[in-house]
Amino acid sequence: MHRRGFLVAGLAAALSGSRALAQMKMDGMPDMDMGDHAGHDMGAMAQAPAALPEGETLRQLPLLANEAGRPGLFKARLTAEAAKARFVEDRDTPILAYNGTSPGPLIEAYEGDRVEITFANRIAGEQSTIHWHGMPVPADQDGNPMDPVAAGADRVYAFELPEGSAGSYWYHPHPHGRTAEQVYRGLAGAFVVKAKADPVPAAYGDTVLMFTDLRLAADGTMPDNTMIDMMNGRVGDHVLVNGQKNPKLALAAGAKRRLRLYNATNARFLRLAFANATMTVIGSDGGLLEAPVAADEILLSPAERIELVVAFDQPGTATLTTLDYDRGWMGPGRPADAGLTLLTVDVSDTPAEAMPPLPERLRPIAPLGGPTVNRRLVFTETMAMNPTGMEMGFLINGKAFDMGRVDIVARAGETELWEIVNQADMDHPFHLHGTQFQVVERERGGHVAKPPYLAWKDTVNVARGETVRLLTRQERPGARMYHCHILEHEQLGMMGLVDVRA
Ligand code: C2O
Ligand code: CU
Ligand code: CU
Repeated sequence: MHRRGFLVAGLAAALSGSRALAQMKMDGMPDMDMGDHAGHDMGAMAQAPAALPEGETLRQLPLLANEAGRPGLFKARLTAEAAKARFVEDRDTPILAYNGTSPGPLIEAYEGDRVEITFANRIAGEQSTIHWHGMPVPADQDGNPMDPVAAGADRVYAFELPEGSAGSYWYHPHPHGRTAEQVYRGLAGAFVVKAKADPVPAAYGDTVLMFTDLRLAADGTMPDNTMIDMMNGRVGDHVLVNGQKNPKLALAAGAKRRLRLYNATNARFLRLAFANATMTVIGSDGGLLEAPVAADEILLSPAERIELVVAFDQPGTATLTTLDYDRGWMGPGRPADAGLTLLTVDVSDTPAEAMPPLPERLRPIAPLGGPTVNRRLVFTETMAMNPTGMEMGFLINGKAFDMGRVDIVARAGETELWEIVNQADMDHPFHLHGTQFQVVERERGGHVAKPPYLAWKDTVNVARGETVRLLTRQERPGARMYHCHILEHEQLGMMGLVDVRA
């Protein structure tokens, strides 16, 4: 039997009763509750999700205050702990938060700054770390699963932000086996490194839009991950922007805004378009492009970021909406991807003050060339029924992650060509720690395509059946992770370790 067919048949049988479901067992998920809640969770998927208020004024993310008191240093404290959020009236939702808020506070620092952040892990009974996603920080400061911070403990993360590193990064936990859950419970925040000389007009503002994905049970709690979540990655019922559902923004006609879009969901692919406003892409994960590029739609896979300038020239209502995207959903419960309104902008008739134009050139990007090493990473999914249940594997080069194993040995300062081959049945967004890479081409069904523009990336979607070739160079020695950024897949083993040597 074809492997995909096998899976779906197995699932159909399993889903016919919660008892059968409860008997299913998956390796690598010791913490997953497959007993009492499993049937309830499956039932909840068929129900209409709890309604959330919409149309509140878009809130700015709270800024993390710099306590350094002198230029060139950013010093602060981030405490991860249990908190309560009010998503629906009269009901508190227990969440995890950094400094009491989810998304966590926005960190803004400048190129050239030194950063010293004391992380206090106050999550009861769970280790955690803070990983600085996309940032060029030393390996021992990067919150690897090998460097856990125990419950109740503090540690200082310290690093310098090199010149030229301005970009839209983020931070989130990365403890072994608990990343997916700590993130969907609320731990993620944006880290914007600002350029000393920024070519984008200040009149456009600078707004982070952080997308998260909330699933809320009728009693206001966040249900645990189900089997379907582990397989596809957890997709919620509500896509939130800065913690709000479809918030509202009021602008004058002719306004231009600089927006940094973050996909901080565990597993939701966001194919986005603006109705009644025009989008220009100006930046990717690792900062500005060489030149602005007009776009009708964008695809933001989990963990990717994009910087846009959006022009609101038509009075009336402009909306940011989702389009359908088929990323190879397995089993029942494929979420409705299309037609969600994520943000509503009321554009008044009163004309905005004249906006300065966007420059034609933003910054140079030197192409990484001349790889000295070629590597091939093959993504596969395996599943097998055995007498105790279904076992699934999310593998890279046939192996599940092992903290004690070095998968690749690389040299600092050398350019490498990595070929990421997706032989699995669903898309997997590939992410590499410690550096930014350049995609050079994508191949699918014998067709090879160059990317539309040169960009610094740390996460790239590799569609099922696709091969993505990228150039990468690690500047510093140490252990770096690479993995699928569907966090449940990372947790189930789709991760490896590259040891960069001096
Ligand atoms: Cu954002 Cu290893 O992850
Ligand atoms: Cu990362
Ligand atoms: Cu994946």
